[in-house]
Amino acid sequence: MIRKKLIAGNWKMNKTSADASTLVQEIVAEVGRVTDVDILVCPPFTSLESAGKLLEGSNVKLGAQNMHHEASGAYTGEISASMLRSTFATYVILGHSERRTYFAENDKFINQKVLAALKNQLKPVLCVGETLAERESGATLKVVQTQLEGALEGVSKEQATSVVVAYEPVWAIGTGKVATTEQAQEVHAFIRSLLVKLFGDAIAQKVRILYGGSMKPSNAPELLAQKDIDGGLIGGASLESRSFVELVKAAAAAK
Ligand code: PGA
Repeated sequence: MIRKKLIAGNWKMNKTSADASTLVQEIVAEVGRVTDVDILVCPPFTSLESAGKLLEGSNVKLGAQNMHHEASGAYTGEISASMLRSTFATYVILGHSERRTYFAENDKFINQKVLAALKNQLKPVLCVGETLAERESGATLKVVQTQLEGALEGVSKEQATSVVVAYEPVWAIGTGKVATTEQAQEVHAFIRSLLVKLFGDAIAQKVRILYGGSMKPSNAPELLAQKDIDGGLIGGASLESRSFVELVKAAAAAK
């Protein structure tokens, strides 16, 4: 398999620094030496530095959940790519549906962030996905295409291999409703075909496409067995070491 599976935890607005340290220590103790799966944790900004120190020397990687595209300046409350780089972060989640919905982030803005992340050697985990209304009206592929092409505008072939795409149907996030393997694989294959058009086949085959939306140990094996599902972006089940570790093991078994 040319794509190593990636299990990524999106902790969202959860965990104080002390709680984050405990969870990171548990994860490192259990799967810190795993090499056949890439493992990523994305705590809140306030825990990046402390979590990063605890991860040092292990195979668990660190990511942020958002960033601003400008390098510095009068953007109260925002964090830049270079600030993230000054912690141990090497990934950043961008365009999550919660950012799109609650903070009005659009494809143009997300595109600026993707370009800034890549310029600063941060790997973007670019989230795309349709709402329930969009799925029911048959617009899923169109929505995903618009989001993907919008966010990746201006990304070079060389940069594209650093991008991770996360397909997260909005109706499946935090709801306990998981997409069926057929629904997920259909969209993942479609995303792969769009990547082929944008960057050519050789590069598209290297880009990882994660599934996100109520992924947990019970449904992960079936999802991770699909041809174009290269891992998971996990919210709820990443907040507890036991379920997160089980997901890492499911990914290792799925190779
Ligand atoms: P969930 O969240 O696993 O809690 O559904 C996934 C996400 O929002 O990334």
